[in-house]
Amino acid sequence: MVAVVFGARGSVGRHVAAGLAEAGVPVRRTSRSGSAEGFVAADLERPETLPAALEGADRAFIYAKPDGIDGFVAAARGAGVRHVVLLSSGAVVNPGAERNPIAVSHRTVETALEESGLEWTFIRPGMFATNTLWWWARSIRDEGRVRMPYPEAQTAPIHEKDMAALAVTAITRPGHAGQAYTIYGPESLTQRELVKHLGNAIGRDIPVEELTPDQARVELARTMPPIGVETMMRVWSSSVGVPARTSAIVPELTGRPAHTFAQWARDHVSDFSR
Ligand SMILES: NC(=O)c1ccc[n+]([C@@H]2O[C@H](COP(=O)([O-])OP(=O)(O)OC[C@H]3O[C@@H](n4cnc5c(N)ncnc54)[C@H](OP(=O)(O)O)[C@@H]3O)[C@@H](O)[C@H]2O)c1
Repeated sequence: MVAVVFGARGSVGRHVAAGLAEAGVPVRRTSRSGSAEGFVAADLERPETLPAALEGADRAFIYAKPDGIDGFVAAARGAGVRHVVLLSSGAVVNPGAERNPIAVSHRTVETALEESGLEWTFIRPGMFATNTLWWWARSIRDEGRVRMPYPEAQTAPIHEKDMAALAVTAITRPGHAGQAYTIYGPESLTQRELVKHLGNAIGRDIPVEELTPDQARVELARTMPPIGVETMMRVWSSSVGVPARTSAIVPELTGRPAHTFAQWARDHVSDFSR
């Protein structure tokens, strides 16, 4: 078995590559620039870069790139790849998915793989714990506080290592072809509780200042496209007092417990500290 991990510097991809290597699978790590040592240059949106990256491989882990998926399918078939694990999105199973551009772009890639003749496994995560990096890491580092709307909104963040462990399991063990795994974190927590865990990890209290929805839109627009802002506002406003969906799919399929947000916070202390 030889596995190609596209986006092997990404927060999920890096753990997929590490997990495969740990499992004894020969891994080819790619990035678009390919400049770092040990990385092959490959861009899922530039099909001409793919045959060389895939040569001799029979497994691949990919990110969802709708513009390049037809080229990827052709190159994967040409190289003799058997099984592709896609990092998709839980958005594809949410109500109104057909009107949500994020869901549509992930579903486009899923459909192309379903019709490709290749074996596939889809990992459809809900909210990544890493989202808290771009929401709050800078303000915690620079101002020692966070400002947010809807602090009582509940979420079940997923550790990137758990998504990667699922991908490694799908690649290395039989029985996962044709399966789509919708994955959430193991516990429902309010946003205020997430901040509390971050404070515990870095060893100081982090005050939470509540923003009005209008103030939040202005703040979020500094780092997010309008679609992302409206998606987040809709998700948060509808999650106040509503326990978030959790899932036990990680322990069931990998045999290891899912990471809690407290563990994630401890793994990321340096991101929230000066
Ligand atoms: N955030 C969420 O809550 C959430 C929820 C559900 C699903 N998702 C999915 O998860 C993805 C983010 O995963 P992540 O946190 O691991 O992302 P990340 O840390 O930002 O890494 C993204 C990786 O994708 C690679 N990449 C980007 N464009 C590429 C291309 N054209 N060809 C090949 N590789 C390319 C990058 O490779 P380079 O090294 O070349 O830059 C990078 O390694 C989202 O895009 C979405 O599909 C996210």
